[in-house]
Amino acid sequence: MTEEAFDVVVVGSCMTDLVSQAPRLPKAGETIHGHKFFIGFGGKGANQCIQAARMGAKTAMVCKVGKDFFGENYIQNFKDNGVSTEFVGQTVDSATGAASIIVNDAGENAIVIVAGANLLLGGEDLRRALPALSRAKVMVCQLEVSPDTSLQALRLSHENNVKTIFNPAPAIPDLDPEFYRASDVFCCNESEAELLTGVAVASIEDAGRAGQELLRRGCSSVIITLGSRGCVVLSAQEPSSPSHHVPTKPVTTVDTTGAGDSFIGALAFYMAHFPTMSLEEMARRANQVAGVSVQTIGTQASYPSKKDLPTGLF
Ligand SMILES: Nc1ncnc2c1ncn2[C@@H]1O[C@H](COP(=O)(O)OP(=O)(O)OP(=O)(O)O)[C@@H](O)[C@H]1O
Ligand SMILES: *[C@@H]1O[C@H](CO)[C@@H](O)[C@H](O)[C@H]1NC(C)=O
Repeated sequence: MTEEAFDVVVVGSCMTDLVSQAPRLPKAGETIHGHKFFIGFGGKGANQCIQAARMGAKTAMVCKVGKDFFGENYIQNFKDNGVSTEFVGQTVDSATGAASIIVNDAGENAIVIVAGANLLLGGEDLRRALPALSRAKVMVCQLEVSPDTSLQALRLSHENNVKTIFNPAPAIPDLDPEFYRASDVFCCNESEAELLTGVAVASIEDAGRAGQELLRRGCSSVIITLGSRGCVVLSAQEPSSPSHHVPTKPVTTVDTTGAGDSFIGALAFYMAHFPTMSLEEMARRANQVAGVSVQTIGTQASYPSKKDLPTGLF
């Protein structure tokens, strides 16, 4: 491969969100009328990749979609956002991942996720992407594809000195211990930190304690995001130092869906473009990027591009 290496390669999920808004959630066997329907692009992997791309990172997505309408549509979405689709596979054996979401007027929801083609992403796909994976600056993965595939991606990246961000979402209780050791940055939210460590995370201090436990398990650094309270950052390089709380600036919150993925996409961009910047400073800036995403409706639709952000963030 003679082309320029990618800044950020994401190995993860693609999901089409089918959203119906209705006065209430239907009961079993019931048909009700809703007042609005829309289709959105989602999936944690794809969300993170799109946010990194919008910040200006040269990105590639390693994922699997179906040979169907939603798959074609998603590939076009990547292209529209400047994400390389060279390693987006299409399968006839399963449908593109889909999330059927019903939201009631109180803002509560009921969701059915069918991971579909996402679960067919495997070792063969990683081997095909190896030339890109092994030369990337940063590799990001989550747990919406088979955990074995994510672990293999982390292992491959680690062996090739590619910086890794692992987002253990959705969290599984008995995570293989190798996930921790292969993570340069282990980034999760409060509930994931709690499920993985058994430390109840309500306060910033609790998050620090859960973070210490994640460091003990072998992560090089840990970020636990705390919604409007920002995040805490811990590093194994200063094990004696307490966790650093990185607060956010207050904003008018409209829709926080996908904020965590915006944060991780931005973090991946900073790790690729500013390799010597402190993780705390990267987290401060990623807070601001994710803080923009909560001020408008939608998941990817709310992710800012470089031109929408203050130049001081670059
Ligand atoms: N209300 C808010 N005000 C400002 N920033 C926010 C707010 N909510 C989230 N953020 C930003 O987004 C980051 C991630 O949010 P959060 O910890 O809620 O992740 P998450 O639970 O994975 O998100 P979600 O599930 O909503 O996508 C926070 O660290 C912060 O930077
Ligand atoms: C953390 O992320 C998961 C998705 O992985 C989500 O279901 C959960 O609500 C989030 N927790 C918080 C506190 O935002």
